[in-house]
Amino acid sequence: MFNKLKSLDDLFAEQLKDLYSAETQLVKALPDMASEARDARLRQGFEKHLQETMNQVSRLEQIGRGLNIDLSGHTCKAMQGLVAEGKETISEDATDEVKDAALIAAAQRVEHYEISGYGTAAHYAERLGHTEAASLLRQTLQEEQLTDTKLNDLAKSYINQRAM
Ligand SMILES: [Fe+2]
Ligand SMILES: [Fe+2]
Repeated sequence: MFNKLKSLDDLFAEQLKDLYSAETQLVKALPDMASEARDARLRQGFEKHLQETMNQVSRLEQIGRGLNIDLSGHTCKAMQGLVAEGKETISEDATDEVKDAALIAAAQRVEHYEISGYGTAAHYAERLGHTEAASLLRQTLQEEQLTDTKLNDLAKSYINQRAM
């Protein structure tokens, strides 16, 4: 019997592949979310996070090169599902105000998924002594947390109120 996952190192590599797939899916999905947002601040938020997300893809590639891990060839099914639900939201017949609130709900699900993934991966990297990788993963984790906070602030300050 050959076990594909023999150690935390193997699991770490698998987690990185999953994150890489998730981020590359988001690079494709975020432009649609931006163009569907009617609120200017929400749209700009999605556009900014698209730039950050492309940068996050580069960080993962940098980690892959540094640790000799091929990140390709894996599909994050959870992100496929989250993106599919987000698309359903976009195609729904809703008022602009409700759609903005729904876009935030979808986006926050994505951010929480990423926060969970990066938190785990950063911890594994630290535990395994991959200092450089850990620092890059923590940078991305912070961006995801900040994005989640900004979405929360938009929703609570006026987007949800307007959708009532
Ligand atoms: Fe991300
Ligand atoms: Fe994100």
